[in-house]
Amino acid sequence: MRIQKLIIPMAVSAASLTLSGNAMAETWKMALGDAAGGTQYELGTTFADLVEEKTDGEVTVDLFPNGQLGSEQDTVNNASMGLLDLSILAINNITPFSPTVGVMTLPYVIQSPEDARTLTQGEVGEELTQNTIRDAGVRILGWAYSGCRRLTNSVRPVATPADLEGLVIRVPKNEIMISAYQAWGVNPNPLAWSETFTALQQGVVDGQDNPYITIDAMKFYEVQDHVTESCYVFSMEPLIISEGKFQSLSSEMQELVLEAGQEATDHSYEYLLETEASIKERLVEEHGMEITHPANDEQEWIELATGIWPEFYDSIGGKEKLDQVLTALGRDPA
Ligand code: MLT
Repeated sequence: MRIQKLIIPMAVSAASLTLSGNAMAETWKMALGDAAGGTQYELGTTFADLVEEKTDGEVTVDLFPNGQLGSEQDTVNNASMGLLDLSILAINNITPFSPTVGVMTLPYVIQSPEDARTLTQGEVGEELTQNTIRDAGVRILGWAYSGCRRLTNSVRPVATPADLEGLVIRVPKNEIMISAYQAWGVNPNPLAWSETFTALQQGVVDGQDNPYITIDAMKFYEVQDHVTESCYVFSMEPLIISEGKFQSLSSEMQELVLEAGQEATDHSYEYLLETEASIKERLVEEHGMEITHPANDEQEWIELATGIWPEFYDSIGGKEKLDQVLTALGRDPA
C-alpha cells in the first residue's frame, strides 16, 4: 500500500497495469475524503495491505487522502463510471445516489457502535449493498465505523436547539441532515466535505458536525472551540468498489477482495472502540476544545429531529424499512 499525493487532480484514471516481479501487477486507486489518520485511513490502509498480501502482490492499492480525487460525492460518480477503482466516504454522501441507504442516517436511529455493526453486518447491510450496486454502480466491500457525529462551533457552547440561533452550520449535501437542522430551527449551509475546513477557517460557516476521530484527523480543533456531545447520526463510512471493476475480476480474485473487505471492517470496529475515548481526551486536554452536554439528555433534540422521519419514508423504501431496522436493533417500531 502506498499513500499518494495527487499530481494532476483532473486526471483520474482507472487502475494502471505495470510489469513487475509478477507477470502483470495492477495498481488500484483509492480515494479518501478525510485526511490521513482517521477511520477512513485505518480501513483503507488495512484493506490495501490485506489485498496486497492475499494476491501475492498482484494487486497493490494507492491511497489518495484528503479529497485529492474530488469531493466524496464526485468519487461515487467516478467509480460508477469506471474512472476510479475504490473510495471510502461517509454514508451520508452516498445516500443521494442510493436513497434507501438513508435509513442509516435518519436521526437517532443508530446510537452506538454495536447498532452500527448489527445493521451493516446483517440483512439490512446486505440489502443496502445490493441497492447501491443497482442504483449507483458501486459495491460496498467494507465499513469504517467512526462514531457519533458531534456538533462543533467556533462561537459559543450549544446545549439546546435554541442555542443554534444565528449560527451558520455546514451540513453535507444530504436532505435528511438538512431537514434535521431545519427541525431544530436553523437553515444549515450544505457544502461538500472537501470545502468544509476552508469554510470554517474563513468564517463562511460557524460550525459543523462529525465524530471525534474525524474532528481530530481533519484538525478541526484549529478552527473550532466548542463541541456538543450530541449523537443524532452515527457515522459509518462504506468502502466502495466500482461494480464494473469488481465484475472484471476472476471469481477467485473477487473472493479475495471480499475477504479483505470483511477483515478490514472487523479491524475498523476494534479501532473505534480502542481509540475514540483517547482521541476525545486529546481534543480537550491538548487542543482546548470545550465539551457541552445536550440539555435534558438530548430530549428536545431527539423529539424535534425524529419528527422528520415520516418525510423520508418514501425514499428509504417505506415505513416498514425503518421498522425492520428498529426491530433488528431491539427497539420498538416507529
Ligand atoms: C461529511 O460530513 O460530509 C462526511 O461525514 C465527512 C467524512 O467523510 O468524514
